[in-house]
Amino acid sequence: MLQIQENISLKPYNSFGIDVKASYFAEIFSEDDLRALFLDEVVRSQKLFIIGGGSNVLFTQDYNGLIIKISIKGIKSEIIEDKVYVTAGAGEVWNDLVNYCVDHGFAGIENLSLIPGTVGASPIQNIGAYGVELKDVFESCAAFEIKTGKIKTFTYADCRFGYRESIFKGELKGQYIITSVTFRLSSAAKINTSYGAIETELQARGIENPNIADVSAAVSHIRVSKLPDPSTIGNAGSFFKNPVIDKHEFADVVAKHPDVVHYPTADHKIKLAAGWLIEQCGWKGKIVGNTGTWKNQALVLVNHGGATGTEVYHFSEQIIDSVKSTFGVTLEREVNIL
Ligand code: EPU
Repeated sequence: MLQIQENISLKPYNSFGIDVKASYFAEIFSEDDLRALFLDEVVRSQKLFIIGGGSNVLFTQDYNGLIIKISIKGIKSEIIEDKVYVTAGAGEVWNDLVNYCVDHGFAGIENLSLIPGTVGASPIQNIGAYGVELKDVFESCAAFEIKTGKIKTFTYADCRFGYRESIFKGELKGQYIITSVTFRLSSAAKINTSYGAIETELQARGIENPNIADVSAAVSHIRVSKLPDPSTIGNAGSFFKNPVIDKHEFADVVAKHPDVVHYPTADHKIKLAAGWLIEQCGWKGKIVGNTGTWKNQALVLVNHGGATGTEVYHFSEQIIDSVKSTFGVTLEREVNIL
């Protein structure tokens, strides 16, 4: 039964562990719940924000509106020749889906092991790690249109995926709520170990012909060794995006900093490693008040306990300023600031 709660703490619902309140809060278990929710007059007049795992948001103040937590569950799969179409409810925990696929021998998302958050957020952000992006395995998603209450299907082309980008963060922001996602996986594994750290980890384990479970275990091991566990140290993964710059801008950077860590992109631009830029500015592992950057990965901002959202936000501004003055490059936040 749909419940709309009032004036509740959001601390359990954001991985930064920031203690702010929402004026209204509703947890959604089905598409019917969504329809019922938007019949409510009070709800229709509120500004709203959708959360899944709350792992990509920084609350800097009480939320004067409605927070909708999507908990729509269920995973089903259909095998057609060597393709497997797996459909998961938006509220499934992302890593539970990865484990389900690895256990069933469905290949394609094992490199995305242990990414925090839920299935519904995965196309919005076009999540990615270790040489694979969501768009590589995305078939379609279903989304509830807030204005009409209708469910619409979005194909790959509809989503306009980019680096940590999609139409749901752009043009259609705030208009749709993703209810399920269908992935196109494979029953004949094509292992992708092109990302150096995976190769190294597999070699260290003495594995020559890895299967998807080996890749998943290697990726999980790398992540655990580099990234803080949000259940003990509040964080939202990479706080900034890796900046993508054009060749002219890059020429300026590399002239002054010949060792700058960088990668070519498909559209002939250059992606810089933000973690490297931040580390070079002396921020890696720094603790400032209750916040700081993580000791093993400077791109991750953490809550060492009791941090407020504004404290984390101001700290992120200091980082942006110092990267700008050292490298002339502007970092963009990846995390949603509310
Ligand atoms: N680096 C440093 N210092 C640091 C951190 C990184 O010098 O403190 C250097 C590394 O040595 C490496 C390069 O920067 O040469 C890239 O580092 P890493 O492989 O850790 O990846 P990343 O670019 O920092 C991105 C994603 C992560 C994803 C990893 C692995 C973004 C914003 N982040 O990080 O995604 O897990 O690649 O594929 O694209 C997330 O989005 O929340 C996230 C964690």
